[in-house]
Amino acid sequence: MKGVILAGGTGTRLYPLTRLINKHLLPVGSHPMVCYGIERLRQAGITDILMVIGKQSAGLYTDFLGSGENFGVKLTYRIQESAGGIAEALDLAGGFISPGEKFVVLLGDNLFLDDLTPYVEKFKQQPPGSARVMLKPVDDPRRYGVPVFDHDDPELIAYIEEKPKKPKSKYSVTGIYMYDDAVFEVIRGISRSARGELEITDVNNKYAKEGKLEYDVLKLWWGDAGTLESLHEAGIHMKGVLP
Ligand code: G1P
Repeated sequence: MKGVILAGGTGTRLYPLTRLINKHLLPVGSHPMVCYGIERLRQAGITDILMVIGKQSAGLYTDFLGSGENFGVKLTYRIQESAGGIAEALDLAGGFISPGEKFVVLLGDNLFLDDLTPYVEKFKQQPPGSARVMLKPVDDPRRYGVPVFDHDDPELIAYIEEKPKKPKSKYSVTGIYMYDDAVFEVIRGISRSARGELEITDVNNKYAKEGKLEYDVLKLWWGDAGTLESLHEAGIHMKGVLP
């Protein structure tokens, strides 16, 4: 199984910090943000990892992470030229994933304490062409993708609403996704949203509609470090997680 970390994007909500350096290289605790995702994948036995990065700070990524050897992984890099959404960034992993191969996708600004191993093992048992997402109960689901569960089979997600004004559950769909190579065909089938992006929620909803979207709930702390407040909170929770 392979891993993909999406670490491009402009991080406008963290200006002026992200004018200097890409968001995923900002300090969280004692390490650059991106290190935690790499460690979570390594911990789950996933060591062949694609980093999708922007042009900004590309040299810093390779200076710091290099081949990945010092982090116990093997890294490949791809440059995302435009800010066309999470699904567009994910599409860049096309050539990295072999036919029929399963992989885990992490949004680089998602920080969490759970070991993903049991969830990855469950995903390995799922049929080809299905997907799995990680959920987390949150105080304000309106900021996230929010799942609505299937009436008949509560182990499935019926659909996801992206940043709903009136959330139908207390959960956030986190930026931890599991797919196989069939996802690239799904991405080809979606259109750009009102904000001109290929949305990951549209991808996940294709799976949900076909009854192929399973989930687990993270047990420990999770956050996305997209704003100054959440970046500081992440620093407190992730302190000491990496040596
Ligand atoms: C993205 C996804 C959203 C998800 C969130 C998790 O939102 O669109 O569904 O809940 O990541 O971090 P964004 O942070 O890009 O607005």
